[in-house]
Amino acid sequence: MLNIAIGADHGGFRLKEIIVKQLIAEGHSMIDLGCDCDVSVDYPDYALPVGKAVQLGQADRGILVCGTGIGMSIAANKMTGIRCALVSDTFSAKATREHNDTNVLAIGERVIGPGLAWDIVKIWVDTPFSHEQRHQKRIDKIAQIEAHSAGE
Ligand code: RB5
Repeated sequence: MLNIAIGADHGGFRLKEIIVKQLIAEGHSMIDLGCDCDVSVDYPDYALPVGKAVQLGQADRGILVCGTGIGMSIAANKMTGIRCALVSDTFSAKATREHNDTNVLAIGERVIGPGLAWDIVKIWVDTPFSHEQRHQKRIDKIAQIEAHSAGE
């Protein structure tokens, strides 16, 4: 079972509430970092603490929900060591764990319904990284891009 940090803005908090309940029912531990209502907020303010929890090892993985998932994924991917995938289909949910070892999942409440969202979350949470050398090599190259751009 995993320890999972989750965050949402006003466009995603309803789906976040559903996902939190379902993941707890599956036996996972959840760190819910808000938001908790439909008052307008800024998605980077929620992507940051979720990404931090993953960076610091306080959470095994992170999940971010906004209206489209796009803003959350852009913000999370600015953080060193965070590999966030914006996913709207089950094939990609599995592939991004096996190939990219993504540690954060972004989904859009206004894009997919709660049934598909749950299928995506469940597959993404349950799928291990393949540990295949060709995929690890590419992930290492992503880390090199991070290191190079930090030095510029
Ligand atoms: C909020 O209106 C909306 O912009 C946000 O939830 C998200 O879709 C941004 O990418």
